[in-house]
Amino acid sequence: MRFSVAFLGALAVSSNAVSLPKYGGGANRYALIGYGKDNPIGATTGGKGGESVTASTAEDLLAAVQGNEPRQIYVKGSISLPSRLAPGSNKSILGVGSNAEILENGISVVNQTNVIIRNIAIRFILDNDGITIQNTTRVWVDHCEFESEFSQDVGPDTYDGQLDLVVASDWITVSWNYFHDHWKSSLVGNSDVLRDVDFGHLHVSYHHNYWRNEGTRGPAGRFGHQHIFNNFYQDFHYQAIHSRSDNQVLVEANVFRGDTREALSTYGLVIPEDSPNTSPEGDFEIDGFANLGAKNDWGPASINITQVGDFTSVPYEYNLTPLRQVQRVVKAGAGVGKIKVHAL
Ligand SMILES: *[C@@H]1O[C@H](CO)[C@@H](O)[C@H](O)[C@H]1NC(C)=O
Ligand SMILES: *[C@@H]1O[C@H](CO)[C@@H](O)[C@H](O)[C@H]1NC(C)=O
Ligand SMILES: *[C@@H]1O[C@H](CO)[C@@H](O)[C@H](O)[C@H]1NC(C)=O
Ligand SMILES: *[C@@H]1O[C@H](CO)[C@@H](O)[C@H](O)[C@H]1NC(C)=O
Repeated sequence: MRFSVAFLGALAVSSNAVSLPKYGGGANRYALIGYGKDNPIGATTGGKGGESVTASTAEDLLAAVQGNEPRQIYVKGSISLPSRLAPGSNKSILGVGSNAEILENGISVVNQTNVIIRNIAIRFILDNDGITIQNTTRVWVDHCEFESEFSQDVGPDTYDGQLDLVVASDWITVSWNYFHDHWKSSLVGNSDVLRDVDFGHLHVSYHHNYWRNEGTRGPAGRFGHQHIFNNFYQDFHYQAIHSRSDNQVLVEANVFRGDTREALSTYGLVIPEDSPNTSPEGDFEIDGFANLGAKNDWGPASINITQVGDFTSVPYEYNLTPLRQVQRVVKAGAGVGKIKVHAL
C-alpha cells in the first residue's frame, strides 16, 4: 500500500493526539458512542480542529480553557487548582500519560456546548463536585478517575458529587471512568423543583464505568433518560441506580458484586443514607421508571421496579460486552492510563 504525503502528514499530527490501544475489541473499542455522539444537535467533537496547547500549571490550565474557539488542551502532571476550572465551549481537556490529576477544585462546565474530558484523575474535591455539567449540551467524560473517601466518619457531605449533570444538560456520554471511594457518585437532575427546566433533557449514556466502594447515586436521575449498560459495580453499598421523579432508565448487561444492598430502584423515596445529615427520614419524591434490556447480573443486590416505562431502545448503535466478560473488560479498561495520550 502506498501512502500519500498528505496522509503521512496526518499520521504525524495524530501521534500527538489520542491513539487507541491494540488489545481485543477492535481498534475503535474506546471510540465515542451513545448520546454524546448520536443526538439531534451533533456529535461531541470538543476542540477538534483547533490549536493544541499543553498545560502543566494551574495558571496555564485556567487560561487555556477560556473562550469558545476550538482548542485541545493537554494536561500534564498534578495540578492544584485555586478555583474551579470553567471551560468554554469547543474544548478537549486531555490528560497526558497516566498521571494527570486535578486537586483542590474541580471542573464546572456551565452554559456551554461541546466539551470532552478524558484521561484525568479528579481527587478529594471538598464541599463540591468533582465535575459539574450544568445547562450544557454535548459532553463526553471518558477514562477519568474520581476519588475521595468513603467511611461513616467522613460521611456524605465532606465531598459532594463525583460527576453531577444538572439544569437541562443533555446529550452526554459517561464512559470507562473509575469512580471509587466516595459516598454520592453521580446525580442527574439536582432538584425535584426543576421539573419544567429539566424535563425532556438529561439524556445520558453511562457505559463501561467501574464503580467501587461507593454509597449512593450510581447514577440517580430525575426527569431525564439514562441508558446504563455494561457497568461493573463492586461494593456499591446502599443504592446504585435510582430513577425517580418521572425519570426513565434503560438498564442492561451490568454486573454487581460484593456488598451492594440495592442495584436498582424506581421507588421515589430518596433513601436516608443519601442525605442522613439533612434528611434522616429520607425525602419523598414520585417514582421513576425502569426498563430492563439485555440481562443484568445483580449479584447479591435487590431491585425494586415500581413502574416500567417506555424507554425500551436508544436511537444509536452500540455493541454490548457479553455479561460474563463485563467484570474483566471494565476493570482492565476503565480509568486513567488506559488510552494513549502523548505529550505534544
Ligand atoms: C464552537 O465551534 C464551532 C466551530 O468552530 C463554532 O461554529 C461555534 O460557534 C462554537 N461554539 C460556540 C458556543 O462558540
Ligand atoms: C448561565 O446562564 C444563566 C442564565 O442565563 C446565568 O444566570 C448564569 O450567570 C450563567 N452562568 C455562567 C457561568 O455563565
Ligand atoms: C442556559 O444557557 C443559555 C446560554 O448561555 C442561557 O441563555 C439560558 O438562560 C441558560 N438556562 C439556564 C436554565 O440556566
Ligand atoms: C419498593 O417499592 C415499594 C413501593 O412500590 C415500597 O413500598 C417498598 O418499601 C420498596 N422497597 C424497598 C426495599 O425500598
